[in-house]
Amino acid sequence: KRERTLAMIKPDGLAGNYREKIKAAILDSGFHIVKETEVQLDAETASLFYAEHSQRSFFDSLVKYITSGPVLAMVLERPDAVTQWRALIGPTDARKAKTSHPNSIRAMCGLDSEKNCVHGSDSPESAAREISFFFGDGVSETVEHDE
Ligand code: CMP
Repeated sequence: KRERTLAMIKPDGLAGNYREKIKAAILDSGFHIVKETEVQLDAETASLFYAEHSQRSFFDSLVKYITSGPVLAMVLERPDAVTQWRALIGPTDARKAKTSHPNSIRAMCGLDSEKNCVHGSDSPESAAREISFFFGDGVSETVEHDE
C-alpha cells in the first residue's frame, strides 16, 4: 500500500547544486513528490527536529550544520516509502556509502557521517512526526503539487 515519508535535502546538498539530481533520482525510483518547502531552520527549531539526538556528542555540531543554510523538505509517496527512501539514500556515513553503496544519493553528494546531504525518516511513526513538523502547523511557504 502507498505510504509517505519525509525527505530533506540538507544545506550541503542545496549549496552543492544537487537539488535537481536528487529530485531526478526520487522520480526515477517511483516516488511522487507530494509537497515541498524550502526553509531556513533556526537553532531552536532544528533542536526540536533532532530532539532524539540531543544527548549525543555530535548534537551541537549537527544543529550548526543543519542551520548553516536552507533545507528542502519533501513529502514522498510510493509503496513502502520509508524503507525505499532509506535504501535510496544509503548509509548515514557518506564515506561508507561511497564504497559499499556507490549508486546511493549519499555516495553522490555526501561527505562523512555528519555532512550526508539528505535525511530520511527511519520509521512510519517518525515519518508522521516529521511530516507534521514541516507541513502541519510549523512552517510557512509550503508548495502543494497537484499532479
Ligand atoms: P540524519 O539521518 O539526518 O539523522 C541524524 C543526523 O545526525 C545524521 O543524519 C547526521 O547528519 C548526523 N550524525 C549522525 N551520526 C553522526 C556522527 N557520528 N557524527 C556527526 N554527525 C552525525
